[in-house]
Order: sequence, then structure tokens, then C-alpha cells
Amino acid sequence: MGRVSKTLFGQLTALPADPILSLSTAFAAETNPNKIDLGVGIYRDEAGRTPVMAAVLEAEERLLHSEGSKAYMVPAGDEAFNSGIRDLLLGKDHAVLSQARVNSIQTLGGCGALRIGAELIKRGNSASRVWVSDPTWANHLPLLGSAGLAIEKYPYYDYEGRRIDFDAMLSALQQVEAGDVVLLHGCCHNPSGADLNLEQWQKLTELALEKRFTPFIDVAYQGLAIGLEEDAAGWRLMSSKVPEMLIAISCSKNFGLYRERTGVLCVQAESKRQAQAIKSQVLSIARQSYSMPPSHGALIAGMILGDESLYAQWTSELSEMRRRIVAMREVLVERLGDGCSDRNFDFIRSEFGMFSFLGIGSEQVVRLREEFGIYMVDSTRINVAGLNRSNIEYFTESLSALLCQSRYCRLDNSGFI
Ligand code: LMR
Repeated sequence: MGRVSKTLFGQLTALPADPILSLSTAFAAETNPNKIDLGVGIYRDEAGRTPVMAAVLEAEERLLHSEGSKAYMVPAGDEAFNSGIRDLLLGKDHAVLSQARVNSIQTLGGCGALRIGAELIKRGNSASRVWVSDPTWANHLPLLGSAGLAIEKYPYYDYEGRRIDFDAMLSALQQVEAGDVVLLHGCCHNPSGADLNLEQWQKLTELALEKRFTPFIDVAYQGLAIGLEEDAAGWRLMSSKVPEMLIAISCSKNFGLYRERTGVLCVQAESKRQAQAIKSQVLSIARQSYSMPPSHGALIAGMILGDESLYAQWTSELSEMRRRIVAMREVLVERLGDGCSDRNFDFIRSEFGMFSFLGIGSEQVVRLREEFGIYMVDSTRINVAGLNRSNIEYFTESLSALLCQSRYCRLDNSGFI
């Protein structure tokens, strides 16, 4: 039993700040006029803003005139949204949809989907272990772990080779047991940007069938790697073969609905009957947690997905975002190549989505922050979307200056760290 204090909360101590979100607060207080925020994963345009997408603005306008009530949503949320997301995720003609084996509920963002999914796993098998990639998004551990599930890690990113260490991943996953869950990033792996190819998805599917584990796919960036369809190929393939699967979807990044907390949990069951049982379980978890979801973001995304002109507008904006990130990756690699560093940053070109590890020293991350006002996660993860044609020169010159200094100092053996 813990130490008894005079008051209920008297024994609680302060926790360390969130490693990602705390960067925004620190950045806001930064006084360097050249400061650059490469921390939290938020899309930014050339002007450094996170604009509301035009398709979203148009849907909001329509909603303003059509939403006649603020009565509760039903616990599963908006059905037009749920089914629109299911189709986007799996493709309208996917067999698991026609077999009625997939149900979905609207959640409080992708985090809500991960958390409800974790509670569902616990109901299915409280001894289930959830295997997550090493590295993974920092919030996966508390989101899944605080539901009471044991977390295991499988090796994923080879920091030396700057690629996925697929052999090590497969070999670690040999230890997975029936009833365990393996969490995979659908695309735009956070934090590394290193994505599985289709052949690797195929091998993991075979392993899931052999070991009888359940895949849990975190889809937070559909459309931001190669394209809406291309990004989905891996999990669609897996879904067509495995009996059960969970998918957590976030609309924060691809619809830019960050603060509207808009997401979906999709659960694929072995049969239609089982899907119905699971849905009742998921709804009861939601009822015990927050009762029913908010409406705004889901009504907007649902309207966009169901309207031809809004959909065309949205996909064009999404492509523009993706193209800008890819262009920034190119410029970044070129400029770093021109610097005096002997390091090779070419790997940044072959990674996807917002994130890549720079792979510099932790002391250099601190110096970039303190001396240059450039903020990134301590792991050296940068949000490439935080770069633009106005700030990239300052960024690459600052980084090159530090890297050159460290190289020469190492050669000098002067003890520079
Ligand atoms: C990130 O990884 O930076 C984003 O997903 C924001 C978050 O909640 O951590």
C-alpha cells in the first residue's frame, strides 16, 4: 500500500512533460526570430501555417445551414462518416465489407481508437501482449499500456543502415503467441518514415496466420505517403487473409481536423455474427469511457467523403500537401549534401510522410534548440512539413555548421561533444 497522506492527492508527484507536446510550449516561448518548429507532427504549408482545408471550410459552411440539432449523436457516431472511412480504408469492393465482417465506431481521434481497441483486446484476452515497433510513436506505449496490456517491442528501424531491419523484425516476431497483438504503422511510420513494402506486408500476413496473432494497424497518415489507394495496399492485403484485425484511423492529418478529435476504430471479425458481438462490446467500452462522440469533425469528413465535388477538392489538397513534403525532402537532401558534412542524408528521400530521423547526436539536438532556435524531438525526429523554402536554408546551414564543427573537432581530438 502507498504512503498515506493527509489529502487524497497529497502523495501525487509531478510527472515529466510529454516528450512531443512539450516542444510546442517551449517553441512558443522561444525568442529567436529565425526559430523553426520541427517538433509536433502537424502539416504546415509554404507559409508555415496549418490552414483549414478548403474542402473542410466548404463542408462547414454547408453544415452550418443544415445541422438542425445538437442532440446527442448515437454511440457509434455518424454512420455516413463511419462507412465513408471504411470504404476509404479498405476499398468499397473489399470482400470483408461485403461479408459484413467489419464494424466501425467513431472515436476521439486516432488516440481514442487505439485506446478503445486496447480495451477490446483486454476483454478478448487479458493476457494478450501487444508488440510494438522499436521505435514507435511515444504515445503508443501509454495508450495501450494503460489499458493494462503487456507491451513487447520488436526491432524495426536500423539506425546504422537507415532502413527497416526486416529480418530482425521477423525473427523477433517468432516469439509472438496466439492471442497476442502486433501493432503496425499503416504508412508514414512515426517516427522513422521507413515504410513496409508490399512484399513485407505479405510476409507479415503469413506470419500472422502461422502464429495466430491479431494485427492492429495504426492508420494516421493515409494519403500522405504515395496516395490514398497506394498507401492502403499493405493493410488491405492483410485484411483479405487474416480472420481478425483492428484498425485505428485518425483524420487529424489527412483532413487537417486535429482539434476536432475525429477518428474511427474498425474491427474485423471472423464472421458476421462475431462482428455484431464485437460491436456491442466496443459500444459498451465507449459508453463506459465517454458515452458518445462529438459530431463536428465526423460530420465534415463524412460529408466530404460522400460528395463528389468536395471529395475531388479534398484529394487535390491532400496531394498538394504530399507533394510539398516530398519536395522538401529533396531540397533538404540536396542542401545537406552541399554542406561540409561528410554524412549522407540520402535516406531522407526514400522515407515517407512527415517524419525522418536526422540521426545526429543528442548534444546536437540540444545545441540546435538552444543556439539556433530549431526544435525537434530528442530522438532526432524532424517534422519535414515544418520546413519551407524560406526557412530551409537557415536549417541546413545551422545543422551543417554543427556537423562540420563536430567533424573537425573529432579530427582535432579536441574533445568537442
Ligand atoms: C506527433 O507524433 O507529433 C503527432 O502525432 C502529435 C502527437 O500527439 O504526438
